[in-house]
Amino acid sequence: MTSIREAFESMAWGPAPESPAQAQEWLGRHQRAFSHYINGVWTSGDGISRFGVINPATREELAQVAEGSRGDVDAAVAAARAAQPLWWELGGHGRARWLYALAREVQRNARLFAVVESLDNGKPIRESRDIDIPLVARHFYHHAGWAQLMETELAGYGPVGVVGQIIPWNFPLLMLAWKIAPALAMGNTVVLKPAEFTPLTALLFADCCQAIGLPPGVINIVTGDGRTGALLVGHPEVDKIAFTGSTEVGRIIRTATAGSGKRLSLELGGKSPFIVFEDADLDSVVEGVVDAIWFNQGQVCCAGSRILVQEGVGPRLIEKLRGRMETLRVGNPLDKAVDIGAIVAPVQLEKIESLVKQGIAEGATCWQPSWSCPTEGLFYPPTLFTEVAPAATIAQVEIFGPVVVLMTFRTPAEAVEIANNTRYGLAASVWSENLNTALDIAPQLKAGTVWVNCTNMFDAASGFGGYRESGFGREGGKEGLWEYVRVEGRGAEGQRGGGAVEWAATPPDRPTAALPAIDRTPKLYIGGKQVRPDATYTIPIHDASGALAAEVPRGNRKDIRNAVEAAHKAESAWARATAHTRAQVLYYFAENLAVREREFTDRLAALTASPASADEVRLAIERSFYYAAWADKYDGRVHHTPFRNVTLAMNEPIGVMGLAAPEEAPLLGFLSLVLPAVAMGNPVVAVPSERWPLLATDLYQVFDTSDVPGGVINIVTGIAKELVPVLAAHDDVDGVWFFGPRELGAEVEKLSAGNMKRTWVEWEARDWLDGHDGQGEEFLREATQVKNIWVPYGA
Ligand code: NAI
Ligand code: MG
Repeated sequence: MTSIREAFESMAWGPAPESPAQAQEWLGRHQRAFSHYINGVWTSGDGISRFGVINPATREELAQVAEGSRGDVDAAVAAARAAQPLWWELGGHGRARWLYALAREVQRNARLFAVVESLDNGKPIRESRDIDIPLVARHFYHHAGWAQLMETELAGYGPVGVVGQIIPWNFPLLMLAWKIAPALAMGNTVVLKPAEFTPLTALLFADCCQAIGLPPGVINIVTGDGRTGALLVGHPEVDKIAFTGSTEVGRIIRTATAGSGKRLSLELGGKSPFIVFEDADLDSVVEGVVDAIWFNQGQVCCAGSRILVQEGVGPRLIEKLRGRMETLRVGNPLDKAVDIGAIVAPVQLEKIESLVKQGIAEGATCWQPSWSCPTEGLFYPPTLFTEVAPAATIAQVEIFGPVVVLMTFRTPAEAVEIANNTRYGLAASVWSENLNTALDIAPQLKAGTVWVNCTNMFDAASGFGGYRESGFGREGGKEGLWEYVRVEGRGAEGQRGGGAVEWAATPPDRPTAALPAIDRTPKLYIGGKQVRPDATYTIPIHDASGALAAEVPRGNRKDIRNAVEAAHKAESAWARATAHTRAQVLYYFAENLAVREREFTDRLAALTASPASADEVRLAIERSFYYAAWADKYDGRVHHTPFRNVTLAMNEPIGVMGLAAPEEAPLLGFLSLVLPAVAMGNPVVAVPSERWPLLATDLYQVFDTSDVPGGVINIVTGIAKELVPVLAAHDDVDGVWFFGPRELGAEVEKLSAGNMKRTWVEWEARDWLDGHDGQGEEFLREATQVKNIWVPYGA
């Protein structure tokens, strides 16, 4: 026996376990065998097959859960479908009251949730108790507020409908909250499938829904593995899929939903850089690394898994890190004094072990603390790799474990280059005591979240989500709400409003002005120059009377590649041009188009015989003014996150965009895509209307005289079926907009899975002449992605 004095003096560590009794009692109440939660009740357990879920700290089975079948998914979707109109009709205040009630119920059961989460997932109780569960409650409260405010703050928007949500095992209840709270707030109903390793807190949450009497069908929980998830993804009655998980499965889902009309948001993997400048406070950096990579055993999509340290302080940082790693404690997740718990499942542990072996084989130096981990459960020690080549496997792939790699850099420019040398773009953190340095670097990082002198900060008020292969869409903040709404009147598939523009059957009176001479043979427009196509094939373009108007080049794969290359060259200068400059260019363009108003009107009338030709050209000029006006007004936000912090939500351009213009409204349809994309700082490669490309080729000279920098707008004429798929599949294109036939739209969505580029695909016709249908904030939103930069303060 040690005396109190001895214990106090030695400060020896003793276990301080949290009791699992209540959790065990809850499992007992369900006989440790669960069914699904559908339409407000637990389904009958008869004849269903189940699988076991384990406590990874002991490998003991906790319970058996049901394997969702096609019938289960059908029943859940039907329940959600039936409940959706009623849920929406409850109104914002009604929904706010229910979300508020859910927040309260989570708080009431906070300790039970935390213990169940730690038992099921293996994460330390300190984290589930102090981070996961409080954030869950916060998400429901915050979104209760959005439900209340929807009518005024999102006027003109309605719900998407029934949402299928598929979540991973690393933050089981938190990911549930991130998905369910905004969906419900915006008037949607949901079917959620938790991960097969960690379904228990979702099932406890179902109990909470039942306890507060949430209307049946609003939330449905179906358990199962990837097969159940795939059934949900493929279900025709689901209007949207929201997924968090591996990039691999994200790609499968992108492909599976292509052409279905389902909306999609994906939050995928990452290999996030953690950049340390020489002037950083190294002691804070060390604690930052602990939070970045040893939080949740490193099983965090935005884990700071690549430390990039400026050369001069590299050795000192390594020494300090090793010292700190010696003091970390791995063990029983329910022990309040434990820093690192258990790895979620044997397969995940094996994956970590094999990647570490590979890292050593590839020549990196592996360092682990001198103590050893408990052996009865799935534990893995904190691990630091140094002498890592940037191209090494462990520097490129997501390990999803407590393993971090360290590399050095010399200059800020080199730091940015290494940081962005990844397919991913989820998060980054920057450490420097010099705010000028940090805020110079943050916008240059391709990542959806950048933390300055902090890491792994999350809040319901701030958006979270990826750039590049880390997915698209945001969760949290106002930016997250857009995933769960659609413009009212533009309904689900087949219900979209805004009919096709109708063309007169016969030409109206011929305009009196002379038509352009037939021999005006346009070229392609690439890099600010009119260039000859790779091949000399042309397409004849006829006017409304059937006469040949011109021959335009039939662009090919090579032409698209050249155009993408030109766009890339223009990218950084255009993205960094001030918004004022971009506005000026668009005003100038409008001015020069106005000078030729008559010429364009005549051309349009001659080609299309549209009685609205004059309107279309007038509107094209007006629309240029509209986006010039927006260029410096599409502001970001400053989020109120509950820390000593400003969180800057910046709208950033997406990058090189491929635009496939609609057939209708050959001038205005084309400009309706080009103008907003360019106004937001994206260089574009545009494929004009196949039938009437001359309205686009006539613009070359207008662009030339309007100070549009070369390469910002590139135009390749030709056959949409040949050109658009090349854009959609191109790895250096970051986003594609397609307004055209469904089959080709489906192909665009499918091919975009290669680099997970963002797509905006619509096959229902819009009325491009309409001020609501043909322009609006929707276009700006689709042309941007939000980066949240967290900047703490405190003197
Ligand atoms: P996963 O992506 O397979 O699982 C995530 C969710 O998707 C689970 O609910 C799963 O049942 C479901 N799912 C699987 N296949 C599906 C399909 N074809 N259709 C619909 N749903 C499907 O991730 P997993 O296998 O658990 O982990 C594998 C690796 O993925 C990890 O080692 C880690 O590197 C990464 N990962 C990344 C996460 C992140 O947040 N970025 C989260 C979880 C895993
Ligand atoms: Mg488990």
